[in-house]
Amino acid sequence: ELPKPFNVPLPIPRVADAERRNGADHYAITQRTAEIEILPGKKTPILGYDGEFPGPTIVSRSGTPTVVRHTNALDIPVVVHLHGGHTPSVSDGFPTDFVMPAGSHELPHGHAASGRIKHGHFDYEYPMKQRAATLWYHDHRMDFTGPTVYHGLAGFHLIHDDEEDALPLPKDERDVPLMITDRAFDGDGAFVYPALDPTMLEEPGVEDDYMAGVLGDVVLVNGAPWPELEVDAARYRFRILNASNARRYRLQLDPGPSDGDPFTQVGSDGGLLAEPHGLGDILIAPAERFDVVVDFGKYDVGDTVTMRNGLGDGSTENVMRFRVVRKASDDSRIPDTLSEVEELDADAATVTREFEFARATSSTGHDDMWLINGKPYDPERVDTRPTLGEIELWRFVTDVHHPVHVHLDPFQVVRRGGRPGPGTYDEGWKDTVDIRPGEVVEVAIRFADYAGMYVMHCHNLEHEDMMMMSNFETME
Ligand code: C2O
Ligand code: CU
Repeated sequence: ELPKPFNVPLPIPRVADAERRNGADHYAITQRTAEIEILPGKKTPILGYDGEFPGPTIVSRSGTPTVVRHTNALDIPVVVHLHGGHTPSVSDGFPTDFVMPAGSHELPHGHAASGRIKHGHFDYEYPMKQRAATLWYHDHRMDFTGPTVYHGLAGFHLIHDDEEDALPLPKDERDVPLMITDRAFDGDGAFVYPALDPTMLEEPGVEDDYMAGVLGDVVLVNGAPWPELEVDAARYRFRILNASNARRYRLQLDPGPSDGDPFTQVGSDGGLLAEPHGLGDILIAPAERFDVVVDFGKYDVGDTVTMRNGLGDGSTENVMRFRVVRKASDDSRIPDTLSEVEELDADAATVTREFEFARATSSTGHDDMWLINGKPYDPERVDTRPTLGEIELWRFVTDVHHPVHVHLDPFQVVRRGGRPGPGTYDEGWKDTVDIRPGEVVEVAIRFADYAGMYVMHCHNLEHEDMMMMSNFETME
């Protein structure tokens, strides 16, 4: 039996404590198992950063290097990726750069000659040469990202900078991260993930019925089922992250405000937009972020406002609820200009590359894989060699829905479905773009600073684990 919606308060993930040493912020996180209460009165075993789900939020300052020591106290190898991070390859969480459990020296499944194996812990170093944005970190081990993230290995990593601080946007307790995930539970409260190998060590993949991706019937926000947030009658900023393995959402407010758009988008994956962008709803695919302002000042004290999912069905039609509990002063504002955003000139692209995302057909001999340009992921194979500093045009072509993510640097959508310019939900700097069935999306991308090996992949985590990933090596 499913829990009653809007019955538990929205949790806010703990902000991790930093230690400032030699001009860098240092954090220490231990990955371990824990039992936490997600469904009222039940215990859910998780894999958690510091035993928490979501993991602790890391808050960085643009320009101040951040070092996160991840200690592996689990009994599986782990890999940490800072999603949206402009990160040197060695700290980017390449899928075979395993951090082995302390004391274990066996090479794990999927190990590759190129893999940079560490034992017990690793210091991930993030230079933070990037603008303010809503990032997140999560497990990224080859073949097993689906089950490990599903079991809890995901957290927020926010970056602030002076430009953003100077804006009169809602702040402090009115700046709220929302991590949306869907999960299925068994009668005892354990997560149900249809892995072929529940030990997450040997055989990758999921049962055939879940080829398209694993969905759950309980929607969690910040790890709580259909929670409720008490709000002032004032503006709030929500940093919305879809951290679900495979589910897409169309977020709506019910009721909407009597005038104006329910959401004003101020930022996307890669930080602030140039100008605010009104949205009637938010179509959000796995790994995308929408940074939006909602004005509860347009509602009356006592009103409830439900965030619904227009793509849901039954229990997944609800996401969370807001309850307007008091009048309050509000000196926030949404300025007409948010940021200066450089526009990448697609006409200056030095090369056009095409990436076709499609399920393997029987003619290849496999019908259980998702491929890019007809090839299954191979950690040793370099498929693309972009030159640092040059603008490239990348064309993504698909069969079904695929949220495509590129590491190292963000991109701008220049054409979707034959129409010039970004689509309604593609504004600003993106690192993940939702490609609809049979659609072509073209993006302009320019890599900078770091030469080395990186991945691009589908962020439907089951597709990623079933080989829909490709290496690129940035060249000087
Ligand atoms: Cu959010 Cu390559 O991942
Ligand atoms: Cu996909």
